[in-house]
Amino acid sequence: MAPILTVSNLTKRFGEVTAVSDISFTLAKGRSAALLGPNGAGKTTTLSMLCGLLPPTSGQIALNREEARDRRERIGYLPQQPVFFNWMTGKEYMQFAGQLFGLHGKKLTERADELLERLGLKDAAKRRIGGYSGGMKQRLGIAQAMVHRPELLVLDEPVSALDPVGRRELIDLLREMKEETNLLFSTHVLHDAEELCDDVLILNRGSIALAGALDDLRRMHQKPQIEITSEKSLIDYAAGLTRYPFINSVKLSEDQCSLSLQVDNREEARAVLLTELAREAIPVVRFEASYASLEALFLEVVGA
Ligand SMILES: Nc1ncnc2c1ncn2[C@@H]1O[C@H](COP(=O)(O)OP(=O)(O)O)[C@@H](O)[C@H]1O
Ligand SMILES: [Mg+2]
Repeated sequence: MAPILTVSNLTKRFGEVTAVSDISFTLAKGRSAALLGPNGAGKTTTLSMLCGLLPPTSGQIALNREEARDRRERIGYLPQQPVFFNWMTGKEYMQFAGQLFGLHGKKLTERADELLERLGLKDAAKRRIGGYSGGMKQRLGIAQAMVHRPELLVLDEPVSALDPVGRRELIDLLREMKEETNLLFSTHVLHDAEELCDDVLILNRGSIALAGALDDLRRMHQKPQIEITSEKSLIDYAAGLTRYPFINSVKLSEDQCSLSLQVDNREEARAVLLTELAREAIPVVRFEASYASLEALFLEVVGA
C-alpha cells in the first residue's frame, strides 16, 4: 500500500537539546496511527515538523511522495494547547478557519454547518467560544482542522486534558473522522492508542523505540505469565521456584502474598504449579494463567 506520509532521518535540535533524533517511518494510507510516548519524548516537536510549523534541523518529510509541495494545505492540525478567539462564536470561527484555506461563500458555509453538526456543536454554533467547555473547544478544534478536507488529520494529545466522559465522546467522534481522512494523533496513554488506531510508533527520548501494527506487536510480544495470590506469605514458596527451567522470572508483591511469573510454556507451568500448590497446601485465593499486556511492553520500552 502506498504510504501517505514518509519521514526520513528527521532530527530537531534546540541548542544542546536533541528533541527528535534521526527518526524514520511511514504512515500507510487508510490506517490510523498513534505517536505514543511519555512526556518529553518529542511528540509535539515531531508533529509540529510534520505540519510545517517547525523547520527540521535535518531530514525529509513527504506527503503522498510529494516533498516539494506545500504540505500545510493538505494537513489538518490540532495543537496540544489550541488557542481560540473567545469572542467569536463557533460558527464564526469555522468561517474564519475556512477562509484561511481559501474557502468561501456557500461552499464554506455548508462545510462549516456540516462539521459543527457532526461534532455535536450545532446548538452551540451561535454561542461565544468563551463559554464552551473543554470538550466543546476540543471538538471545535477538530472541526476547524477538518474544514478543508485534509488528507491527513494530525492531533496533538487530543484527549489528554478531558474528563472520562469527554474522552469517550471524543474517541467516538475520532473513530468517525477516521472514515474520511488519515489520522495521526499523539498520546502518552497506551489505552487511547489501542482504542483508536491500527499502528503505533512508540517514541522515547526522541527516538523510535518500537513501531508496528498493534495486532503484530500484541502477537509478537505476548509473553505467557502466571499470577498466584495466597492468603499467606509466598516468600518461601517463591524461593523454591527458581529450580524450574520453564520459569524465567519471579516477582513477589510488596505484601509477599502475590507472585507474578514469566514462563516459557503456560500449559506446562500451570500443570506443575497447580499440583505443587495443592501438595504443599498453600491457601491460594487466585491463580491466573494469562499473557503479559501491551501495557507491560510499553512500560518496558520506555523504561518506566
Ligand atoms: N522550543 C524548545 N526549546 C527548547 N527545548 C524544547 C523546545 N520544545 C521542546 N523542547 C524539548 O524537547 C523535548 C521534547 O519535547 P516535546 O516534543 O514537547 O515532547 P512531548 O510532546 O513528547 O511531551 C523536551 O526535552 C523539551 O523540553
Ligand atoms: Mg507534547
